[in-house]
Amino acid sequence: MVSRVIPVDDFDLVIFGGTGDLARRKILPGLYRRFCAGQMPETARIIGAARSEHDTEEFRQLVRDAIREFSTKNTCDEGQIGAFLERLDYVQVDARGSDGWDALKEMMRDGVVKAYYFSVAPSLFGDIAERLQSYGIADESARIVVEKPFGRDLDSAKKLNADLAKHFDETQIYRIDHYLGKETVQNLMAVRFGNILFEPLWNSQYVDHIQITVAETVGVGGRGEYYDRSGAMRDMVQNHLMQLLCLIAMEPPSRFDPDAVRDEKLKVIRALEPVDHHSIVRGQYEATATEPSYREDAGDPRSTTESFIALRCMISNWRWAGTPFFLRTGKKLKARTSEIAVMFKDAPHSIFGEEAGRHANVLSIRLQPNEGMTLKVTIKEPGPGGMRLVDVPLDMSFAEALGDDAEEITDAYERLIMDVIRGNQTLFMRGDEVEAAWAWTDPLIESWEKRGDMPKAYEAYSSGPEEAAMMLHREGRRWREIKE
Ligand code: BG6
Repeated sequence: MVSRVIPVDDFDLVIFGGTGDLARRKILPGLYRRFCAGQMPETARIIGAARSEHDTEEFRQLVRDAIREFSTKNTCDEGQIGAFLERLDYVQVDARGSDGWDALKEMMRDGVVKAYYFSVAPSLFGDIAERLQSYGIADESARIVVEKPFGRDLDSAKKLNADLAKHFDETQIYRIDHYLGKETVQNLMAVRFGNILFEPLWNSQYVDHIQITVAETVGVGGRGEYYDRSGAMRDMVQNHLMQLLCLIAMEPPSRFDPDAVRDEKLKVIRALEPVDHHSIVRGQYEATATEPSYREDAGDPRSTTESFIALRCMISNWRWAGTPFFLRTGKKLKARTSEIAVMFKDAPHSIFGEEAGRHANVLSIRLQPNEGMTLKVTIKEPGPGGMRLVDVPLDMSFAEALGDDAEEITDAYERLIMDVIRGNQTLFMRGDEVEAAWAWTDPLIESWEKRGDMPKAYEAYSSGPEEAAMMLHREGRRWREIKE
């Protein structure tokens, strides 16, 4: 199978925060891979913009180092790195002052797509947006890309939206949630809406419950201070897990176009019921013999921030009334894995008798690692001796199905940046979606803060606190094992 590279229009992409961590780890190596894939038009350019003093040569060196360090799918040689670096320029700008803006204006070309990536603290979004307009370098077709965290509650998100809306139309604003750029996440929509097989079963009549797990093995060391102000709820649930929940639960949009998809996602968020405290378990990882505890990583011995959270959510609509959605995410868990599992109900009556046991279908959609899908079906155990049933997986691993091309599964950032250049907002969050997500999240956080609930300690590299297992156990359900 040969992957197709769809050309994009010529562009000037400015990365504010161009020397920062995200630019080095994700954005620039991602652009480099698109360059190698032949997707960057010949005259397209990337301009790093940041506060630090560098000349273009130093910036190129920094990008060369970043590509070597972070570009795992490196299929190009040094010559290609060199050719890519030729496309790069650097300008020193002061986001809050006037330095550098005239120089940036000089660099921007007319008649090409202009995209501005705000890879900076949200407190700078408004200032940069304002300057792009006042220096006349953002026409009606210009796009801005903003990163999470998009606010830390409803009020701050509203303020950010209002600050951006003063200078840019919603059709120009691309709010990134990199989970939406993951290959399997899009495949989820293809599977749901491209096949007739699943849709008739996709409701509370046939689905017992749904589990969404995003487990990481890393701790928060290195970014403890940031993380301690967010916690798993703000860092992962309000955005990534809720986006996954929306895609799995939404009604079929009439078209695969940005507003049709986002309207349906918004309806899901608005239909989410408030979650009471019995349906929330928060945790903090403990120290191991050689590694610090969450509180040590966070630098606060009394921190009450969660590095793990499990929630039981209900969606009040006709399709899902009665089907719980269990969400779980955490740091320093047993394995790095992200999975959505649709747990179907048992067959209503077993014709094979009690001894055949109870069996239920499970559709598991793996985001990482080993992207793919598995459908667990029940068959007869081979051999003589009566009717014994056994569950076997029908496995669709992308790596196997796509052969060599799986190697080339596009990284989320690569895909999303190219969507910005194409002007396709389908995989980006709309302002009202982000606000609705905070409107649901805020009362949950307030309730545990008001109650003074403490996170439960959990052993590092385990499945999280025992209480999370109990939450499902109480109702006769079980989490799926966290494994790669
Ligand atoms: C980020 C969070 O948005 O997503 C991090 O801030 C988290 O805490 C990361 O580690 C996980 O992303 P991925 O793509 O590695 O699953």
